[in-house]
Amino acid sequence: MTNNTQQSSRSVKVDFGNGNIVEYPVYQATIGQDVVDFRTFGKSGMWSYDPAFLATAACESKITYIDGDKGQLFYRGYPIEQLAEHSSHLEGAYLLLHGELPTKEQKEEFEQAILRHNMVHDQFLSFFKGFRRDSHPMAMLGGAISAMAAFYPEDFDFKNAEHRKIAIRRLIAKMPTIVAMCYRYNQGLPFMYPRNDLDYSSNFLHMMFATPCEPYIPNPVIARAFDRILLLHADHEQNASTSTVRLAGSSGTHPFAAISAGIACLWGPAHGGANEAVLKMLNEIGDESHVDAFMQGVKDKKYRLMGFGHRVYKNMDPRASIMRKTCYDVLEILGKHDDPLFKLAMKLEKIALEDSYFIEKKLYPNVDFYSGIIQRAMGIPTEMFTAIFALARTVGWLAQWQEMIEDPDFKIGRPRQLYTGYASRNYVEINNRK
Ligand code: CMC
Repeated sequence: MTNNTQQSSRSVKVDFGNGNIVEYPVYQATIGQDVVDFRTFGKSGMWSYDPAFLATAACESKITYIDGDKGQLFYRGYPIEQLAEHSSHLEGAYLLLHGELPTKEQKEEFEQAILRHNMVHDQFLSFFKGFRRDSHPMAMLGGAISAMAAFYPEDFDFKNAEHRKIAIRRLIAKMPTIVAMCYRYNQGLPFMYPRNDLDYSSNFLHMMFATPCEPYIPNPVIARAFDRILLLHADHEQNASTSTVRLAGSSGTHPFAAISAGIACLWGPAHGGANEAVLKMLNEIGDESHVDAFMQGVKDKKYRLMGFGHRVYKNMDPRASIMRKTCYDVLEILGKHDDPLFKLAMKLEKIALEDSYFIEKKLYPNVDFYSGIIQRAMGIPTEMFTAIFALARTVGWLAQWQEMIEDPDFKIGRPRQLYTGYASRNYVEINNRK
C-alpha cells in the first residue's frame, strides 16, 4: 500500500466458526469501489476463490479509472473525451507514465527522446527475415519484442529507475517501427526507415505506406485520427493483457519479455483480437439482407456479436462514442462513407441498440466495433489491427509495470487454487494400466 492509501473506518468481519471471528480492514478508493484487505485471509486455513477476478482487486493503482455503469474513462483523473480532443498519444503517454501532464520543456524532452530512438538495430532486420512471409503480425510482434532484449545485452536491473526509464522510452520509440515492419514483411515490401521530422503517428503511417520510389506525405487529418486511436487504446486499467504484463513482470523479468507476454494475451478474440473479429464477422455476413438471420443466431447463442459487450462497461464505452464520430470523419475525408461494409456495420449497430436482448444484457458497442472500420478505411489490413492495438497499449503496459515495481508492497504474483484432483495415489507400472 502506498503512503496515502486511506484505511476506511469500516471493516469486514468473517466468522470462521468456533468463535473465530477475523476482522479485515477496508481501504478507500478515491472514486469507485473500496476494497477489503484479504491478504491475511490464508491464515484462516482457506483461500478466497475468484476465478477470472470478478471481484478481486489485484493491485492498488493511480493510473486509470473506469466507471463501467456511467461509461466513463479517466487517465490520471482526466476524462478521455478531453484528452481525445486536446491531447496527443505521446502527451498521453507522458501523463500515464509520470502522473501529470508535461510542461512545455518536459513535453519537448520526452517527445524528442521518443522520436530520436525509433530505429532498430540493423541486425534486427535479419532476425525478422527468419519469419515466414505469411506469419500473423501478432506472432511476429510477440517474438520480435521479446527478442529485442537480446539486442541490448547490457545488464538490466528492474530495480534501477534509470534502467527502467531507458527501457520504457526505447520500447515506446521502437514499437511503431516494429509494428510497421510486420506489415511490410507480410506484403513483401522493403522496410522504411523512420523519419524524425514527422510526429509519432505520421511517422508510423510513413513507415507503413511510403515507398523508397516516391515521397509520401501523410494526410494530417488521417494522422490525427490514427493518433486518437492510439490515445484511446493507451490504457484500460487491469484488463487481461495488463494483468498479464504485471504478473510476468512481477518475477523481475526483462520488461520487453513482460510486454511480449501482454502481446500474447492481447491477441485473443475476447480482448484485442476483437477489432479483427469484427471485420471478419462483417465480411461473413456479407450483405445487409443477411443481418436479421445473423442476429437471430446471436440471440440463439450460436455465436457472439463481435465488438459488442464489455466486462466493465455496462453502458456505452466512452471510447466507442469518440471512435464513432472519428469513424464518420475519416470515411467522409476518404470519400468512403458509402462503403458497403460500413453501412452493414451501422445496420447491425442500430438493430443491437434497439433490441431488447442487447438492452437487457447491457451490451453496447465497444471501441473495437469502430476502430476496425476506421483502420480498414485507412488501408490497414485486418490482420494488423491487433498489432496496432498493441502499439497503443504498450504505453499503458509500461506505466502499469513501472507502478507495480515502485509499489512498496511489490512481490512476485502467485495465485492460489482450489485443488479438486486426486489426493494421493501410487505409481502404476505400464503393463498394469487399463
Ligand atoms: N454478443 C452476444 N451476447 C453477448 C455478447 C456479445 N458480444 N457479450 C456478452 N453476451 C451475453 C452472454 O451470452 C451472456 O448471456 P447470458 O447471461 O444469457 O449467459 C451475457 O451477455 C454476459 O456475458 P459474459 O460472457 O458473462 O460477459 P463478460 O463480461 O464475461 O464478457 C466480453 C465480456 C467482452 C468477453 C463479451 O461481451 C464478448 O465476448 N464480446 C465480444 C468480443 C468483444 O467485442 N471483445 C472486445 C472487448 S472490448 C476491448 C477490450 O477492452 O479489450
